[in-house]
Amino acid sequence: MRTDTGRIIHLADYRPTDFVLERVDLTFELDPTETKVEARLIFHRREGADPNAPLVLDGDELKMTGLLFDQIELAPERYTETPDSLTIRDLPASVPFEITITTLINPEANTQLMGLYRSNGIYCTQCEAEGFRRITFFPDRPDVLAVYTVNIIADKAANPLLLSNGNFLGGAGYGEGKHFAAWFDPHPKPSYLFALVAGDLGVVEDTFVTMSEREVALKIYVEHGKEARAAYAMDALKRSMKWDEEVFGREYDLDIFMIVAVSDFNMGAMENKGLNIFNDKYVLADPETATDQDYANIEAIIAHEYFHNWTGNRITCRDWFQLCLKEGLTVYRDHEFSADQRSRAVKRIAEVRHLRSEQFPEDSGPLAHPVRPTKYREINNFYTTTVYEKGSEVTRMIATILGRDGFKKGMDLYFERHDGDAATVEDFVKCFEDASGRDLTQFSLWYHQAGTPQITVSSSYDASAKTFSLSLEQMVPATPGQTAKEPMHIPLKFTLIGENGAEAQPSAVSGGEVTGDVLHLTERSQTFVFAGIGARPVVSLNRGFSAPVNLHYSQTTDDLAHIARHDSDLFARWQAITDLALPNLTAAAKAAAAGKPVECDAALCDALLAIASDDSLEPAFRAQALALPSESDIARELGANNDPDAIHQGRQAVLTAIAKAGSATFRSLYDGLAASTPFSPDAAGAGRRALRNAALGFLALSDNSPAGAAEAYARADNMTDLSQALTVLAHRFPDATETHAALAAFESRFAANALVLDKWFSIQATIPGEGALERVMRLMQNPHFAASNPNRVRALIGTFAFGNPTGFNRPDGKAYHFFAEEILSIDKRNPQLAARLLTALRSWRLLEPVRADQAREALMTIERASSLSSDVADIVERMLK
Ligand code: PHE
Ligand code: ZN
Repeated sequence: MRTDTGRIIHLADYRPTDFVLERVDLTFELDPTETKVEARLIFHRREGADPNAPLVLDGDELKMTGLLFDQIELAPERYTETPDSLTIRDLPASVPFEITITTLINPEANTQLMGLYRSNGIYCTQCEAEGFRRITFFPDRPDVLAVYTVNIIADKAANPLLLSNGNFLGGAGYGEGKHFAAWFDPHPKPSYLFALVAGDLGVVEDTFVTMSEREVALKIYVEHGKEARAAYAMDALKRSMKWDEEVFGREYDLDIFMIVAVSDFNMGAMENKGLNIFNDKYVLADPETATDQDYANIEAIIAHEYFHNWTGNRITCRDWFQLCLKEGLTVYRDHEFSADQRSRAVKRIAEVRHLRSEQFPEDSGPLAHPVRPTKYREINNFYTTTVYEKGSEVTRMIATILGRDGFKKGMDLYFERHDGDAATVEDFVKCFEDASGRDLTQFSLWYHQAGTPQITVSSSYDASAKTFSLSLEQMVPATPGQTAKEPMHIPLKFTLIGENGAEAQPSAVSGGEVTGDVLHLTERSQTFVFAGIGARPVVSLNRGFSAPVNLHYSQTTDDLAHIARHDSDLFARWQAITDLALPNLTAAAKAAAAGKPVECDAALCDALLAIASDDSLEPAFRAQALALPSESDIARELGANNDPDAIHQGRQAVLTAIAKAGSATFRSLYDGLAASTPFSPDAAGAGRRALRNAALGFLALSDNSPAGAAEAYARADNMTDLSQALTVLAHRFPDATETHAALAAFESRFAANALVLDKWFSIQATIPGEGALERVMRLMQNPHFAASNPNRVRALIGTFAFGNPTGFNRPDGKAYHFFAEEILSIDKRNPQLAARLLTALRSWRLLEPVRADQAREALMTIERASSLSSDVADIVERMLK
């Protein structure tokens, strides 16, 4: 483990390397505990660099067993080795030279899953961001691009498969039961995109013919026996390849594209050139074991990693501060892909829900940072929802401001100008400026200023002048290290809706720039006046969530209901429902806290039931409307002094009122949507299941009996319905015999499938209320739980901390202290995982004082512990600051 040095890396300190790396030749002799790595590196001194500068290479827990300079052993006085660096002096001023480094590494002992490790008997690598330096000493930074040749030698029986990046060169026997394979990747790449896989896996094969008629071999490797569960991933891959050609004009550039699924992985997946490595959770699916959400995730992540081939690999990042250059852009591309494959409006609603529940809290808490940060202590901690999801929103806003054509021209210029480069955010933005002629200086603040902009809106109608005025005031809250903020360029899509529901995009406007349906807010406060408006309109603002901001606009219940009924933008209709519901839910939480009866507003109830039974609306949309804001949405709306128990009680009371008022509606929805056709994972089928399961949840509330869910459980013929029925049982009737029976049946039926048992762990970890902590502790003793596997840990401990507000935030603080102990023990094995889980406490300051004190105590226990990893030390210190 890299213990914390407290050293901070600053963007302002960036400078190019003194040496240029020309070529890399790697030879691996694989062994579970003693793998020998020989790295032959050809360098020359960069023109203009200091002729005396030494070559400094990065390492991490490395042990060197040999060092040659131009094939001759290097004299000890010419180099200095530590576990995390190798410095070589007296190197040639201009001629190229070769350094050959031999290291010995232990894949079996690599529990942090960075560098070369073993997962279920499979050798695999993870090098982003700084994992390659755990394999050999190397200039391990993304602006060092080179062409790699890789030779892999391994025991043939145990490792029939030897894979690396690029194209296969050849292979042969290698004596004593061993064999070898050689791979060559012609595309220069940074070390973080290096990958190696060896082992015994099953394969699913297909081909793709590119737009210029080249045939590409597609291979997805999974554990033997799981091949059939890779079919959907293969289909998603082919659709992704086609879509990137059609929409972005991007063609694949090698003869082979491989995906390997492994069961121990810190993140979702990794875009290594030509050899993506995936958490198997995002590859394996069939109706019996995968939910509709799993299918959607697989489709999105397969696409995301594939799209990185251009946005990330062909054009990479100059330094890790530019991470959003590849991640924000690639998330935007995968969002657009999913929107095209499914329902655009429903996809947008899901994205915004996710952004609000994950990114907004990050942006308003102690871990807030700009999309393009300027300093970091541990880069692993910057793979955040701000860099990814807000980064995607920033890209989306560029598309909104420039329009479809302008955006396309800018992207084309980016690919043309920067192919093969390690680029910066400034390079990216410049392409859009040059392609469109529009100045994006003010807009660029989105990359540099952290915090979610707050926009206060008021409006007035002047009947005699026939003008409608819309006043907007923007404020960006202070965030760590940034107290004063400049006004931003905020593109707000809008429409004015007339009494009869007709929409108008007024042309006569003063007070600011309006282009088409986009209003450009650029000043701190600005009043737009629309002329020639015959009657008071209802404004629908920030349609499609064109800007990631918080609107404060006290529209009347009638106006919101009008939008919910008429807006042609389905997202805006959903938003109006949410805006109707939120005041109700916050009032309910306050009433519950004061021990008063909770009321449900009739207008909300009517609007929801009208949508629920409106067959002209797609079922997935109706399900989203019925989902109502979550407990954490309500907490965010309340802002401070949160009592999770009161929020839960208040929300449950509102849901129960809706369930009772709509029991007939829900009954007929439930019966009417009964699965008739054979299962299909497509968006339409998923939407019907989502609506039917929403109805099931309401029926369980109005019946106040587990019978309906127990029957649904018994009849389910797919994992979505099965897990939803189990969730209703466990969350609403945790003590019922039906629930115990269903939980036991689920466990034994899926005992051999760890990914499915993760759902079983998660459902139980999120049962609200008092017994939650004891339940989680008991489940940790379950033989299917494995503390070494990140998916298991996330499914049980992660879901408890992130997704069980009442159980995790019990007022006696016991769950926080349990969590702190777990974080410390996970940190010893896997710092990256520990640090990520720890962010579950990022909003601790918004809790009511008793809980907040307990949370602080728990954080301080972590902070005081000896030998923290730099990952956890960084997070805990920022959270306590
Ligand atoms: N680059 C990966 C992605 O976004 C994420 C990742 C980061 C995976 C770091 C592993 C380690 O697709
Ligand atoms: Zn990515």
